[in-house]
Amino acid sequence: MEKKPTQLLLGIDIGTQGAKVLVIDFNGHIHAISTSSYDFEVRQQGWAEQHPLQWWNGVTEALKDLLEKGIDPKAIIGIGVSGQMHSLVLLDKNKEELGTAILWNDVRTVAECDDIYEALGKKTIFSITRNSVLPGFTAPKLLWIRKNEPDRYTKIHHMMQPKDYIVFKLSGMLSCDVSDASGTSLFNVNERQWSDEMIKGLNIPKEWLPDVYESQTIVGEVSKEASQLTGLIAGTPIVAGAGDNAAAALGNGIYEEGKGIISVGTSGTVFAPLKAVPQIIDEDDLSTLHLFCHCLPETWHVMGVTLSAGMSLRWYKDTFTNTSYDELLTGVSSVQAGSDGLIFLPYLNGERTPHNDPNAKGVFFGINYRHSQNHFTRAVLEGVSFSLKDCLELIKKLNISLDTIYVTGGASKSQIWKQILSEVINHPLRAFEEREGPAYGAALLAGLGIGVWSGPEQFPNFFEDSQYTKMDQKNISTYEEIYLTYKKLYKKLKPIFSENK
Ligand code: XUL
Repeated sequence: MEKKPTQLLLGIDIGTQGAKVLVIDFNGHIHAISTSSYDFEVRQQGWAEQHPLQWWNGVTEALKDLLEKGIDPKAIIGIGVSGQMHSLVLLDKNKEELGTAILWNDVRTVAECDDIYEALGKKTIFSITRNSVLPGFTAPKLLWIRKNEPDRYTKIHHMMQPKDYIVFKLSGMLSCDVSDASGTSLFNVNERQWSDEMIKGLNIPKEWLPDVYESQTIVGEVSKEASQLTGLIAGTPIVAGAGDNAAAALGNGIYEEGKGIISVGTSGTVFAPLKAVPQIIDEDDLSTLHLFCHCLPETWHVMGVTLSAGMSLRWYKDTFTNTSYDELLTGVSSVQAGSDGLIFLPYLNGERTPHNDPNAKGVFFGINYRHSQNHFTRAVLEGVSFSLKDCLELIKKLNISLDTIYVTGGASKSQIWKQILSEVINHPLRAFEEREGPAYGAALLAGLGIGVWSGPEQFPNFFEDSQYTKMDQKNISTYEEIYLTYKKLYKKLKPIFSENK
């Protein structure tokens, strides 16, 4: 008799630098992972765009590779998709892509954010969306197109975010989930549904928006056409999925108060779950924090976002070196904490939390003859860690207790970066040996959706093997001092940044 293959859940993540697909079994073990890379285009300073087909081609390539690794598509019984948040995907009346997507790290829409405040007023916006309107969010991108590309605007029939576009390509269904919808400025975060007041107030046709679901809801199944293209079996159920940060948090077991997670992908985020929506966060210094729905029912989260985290290192590596990440990071330990006075501000495409400043720029400060390439690499890791500390400090002001903090993404894969980050924030960090953040969380959502588990409390014990990073007290004190200079640098440079747009 033929042995039945182990049943598997497929997670797909649409990152900014590539697509990732993986399959896990019901014990949480990863059976195979495949990736496919792509880039984003910066046509003007502060802009960032990708064509949605880059993601779809990335997904089909990665899936082909996954199945070639011996994964039997018949074993895959549920699919979840996660992706970069906020980025605006437009389709025309034939459901064809309408040009490139404006991405989450594109900061061109300052004027449109002001227009939204003018149209609806800060008080209304905060009471409904629970967030500031920030240039990275979705609604201002749509208003930018209305103002600057009226021809494209008149052709719009559907708007959505990257993972929703992939769900559409796989199933033909249009959907969105509560975590991604939270970052559109069109969503009532408390009620977990679209806000008619925001949508009408901005004169956006509501029929352009997909229906919104809790992240684990089954919204479609693999179509015959997608089956032919991908090798997946037609009829396999697909859940609504989640924004990448919520999915990464779930994938690392972060869904209860008291635990937080720092994720270092292209962006860097500090994320803390909440079991209720707190008071409105509209005081000026807290207004760059995000308050979004988490990807589990009746759960929310607060989050700070630095725009160029892993991307700072990628840019630095590609621009100034011709070596691999591994080689680059190996040299870092030869330099003392503090990089002998070299400080990096990671504002390569402006910054979101804590400055909300599209004019902010990247800076290496304090260069002298003694600095080698290793100093520059270390300074980049330290600068990104300071920007994550900025996010964490804001979250602490809300009196949210974060007893245990995990790290995932690029920084979690490097001992030295993990150590630098934990010393900079002065908090030990836990990380899993083998955990692929958002795609893993997306696979878990698929399992919840098809009823493998009825809730996260039923997950097997795959959140138990995390390791602590080591920390050195001397480095912690060094970083405390340098952090003050890091903050002073932005303050002093801010007027010069805006004079030099
Ligand atoms: C979150 C954000 C980024 C993207 C990265 O608000 O803009 O973290 O989700 O993919």
